[in-house]
Amino acid sequence: MRAVVLVGGFGTRLRPLTLTTPKPMLPVGHRPMVENLVRTLAASGVTEVVLGLGFKPEPFIQAFPSGECAGVRLHYAVEPEPLDTAGAIKFAAEHAGIDDTFVVVNGDVLTDLDVSTLIAFHRSSGAEATIHLTPVEDPSAYGVVVLADGGRVERFVEKPAPGAVASNSINAGTYVLEPSVLGRIASGRKVSIERETFPGVVVDGRLFALSTDDYWIDTGRPEPYRRANLDMIDGVRRTLRADAIEDGARVDGSARVTHSLVSRGAVVGSAAVIEDSVILGSAVIEAGAVVKDSIVMGHLGRSSVISHTVVGAQGRVKDGAVLSHALVPDPNAVK
Ligand code: GDD
Ligand code: MG
Repeated sequence: MRAVVLVGGFGTRLRPLTLTTPKPMLPVGHRPMVENLVRTLAASGVTEVVLGLGFKPEPFIQAFPSGECAGVRLHYAVEPEPLDTAGAIKFAAEHAGIDDTFVVVNGDVLTDLDVSTLIAFHRSSGAEATIHLTPVEDPSAYGVVVLADGGRVERFVEKPAPGAVASNSINAGTYVLEPSVLGRIASGRKVSIERETFPGVVVDGRLFALSTDDYWIDTGRPEPYRRANLDMIDGVRRTLRADAIEDGARVDGSARVTHSLVSRGAVVGSAAVIEDSVILGSAVIEAGAVVKDSIVMGHLGRSSVISHTVVGAQGRVKDGAVLSHALVPDPNAVK
């Protein structure tokens, strides 16, 4: 089975982290999230993955130079310009010559779903396209799905106004598609699978969906990104797990690190305090700094104190500075 993984978005909501690193290359449990995703797909029988690339393709190609990840063959389909989700799927599928049933995954979604379950359901219902669903409290930031009997989709509405659609089942970003879906997508222009293609398949009664209670998170904003990392050390994932402090992280013996991840390459100085945070490999945390509920890729000065703050690779927090709910550097001020 082949899969297209969409990794070409701008990752705007994860700035400043994504000013230097494309979202799917940001680590979750010390590994690029796309690698985690490919691992999970490989475990459910996917043998080839086409990465639908656009924005910043080089880091992906550099990270997997042999064209292999978790035993899976990778293809790189680099769009000449952003084609949006359906346009990217068509471009990637044509690039790899896909002409059989295939899987599509949003590259910022981490889930323990066994995709073979979705494929089996897809085949048994005779669907043209099948969507994985997950329940959420506030569905307004997602594609909302109303189901009829037998798992047929009655309505698909992308990002409706709060309360506008009476369902808390949302598109969880994994699909099984027949190649005929590609024929519904116009070539050479932006097409959204959520806004254009799926509603068309609904009209023909051929869109189905299956809800599961598997672990699921969309890492596209700082808080779920931090959560996704902590879940890897909390043993919440069925399929994946990570050490809190990766081998090769330089943590001073007098620093106190609690319920946090520190990746290889990071430096944590004496008497620093780190709680409920994600410290990525490029981070330098000087002596006496205090870090709570934060994500750090950059530099924290001596005795600085940050909470609920995101420090990108170019971010520098001054000695003694106190920051709460801050983005460093401020993405709106950076070109
Ligand atoms: N190659 C390529 N080209 N990829 C793209 C493009 C593009 O032009 N635009 C977006 N993507 C990729 C993103 O990188 C991401 O992996 C995926 O497509 C989805 O885009 P997001 O920007 O993350 O969308 P979203 O989170 O607002 O909503 C989507 O995901 C939700 C579940 O997490 C939708 O599919 C919703 O319906 C869904 O509920
Ligand atoms: Mg997303």
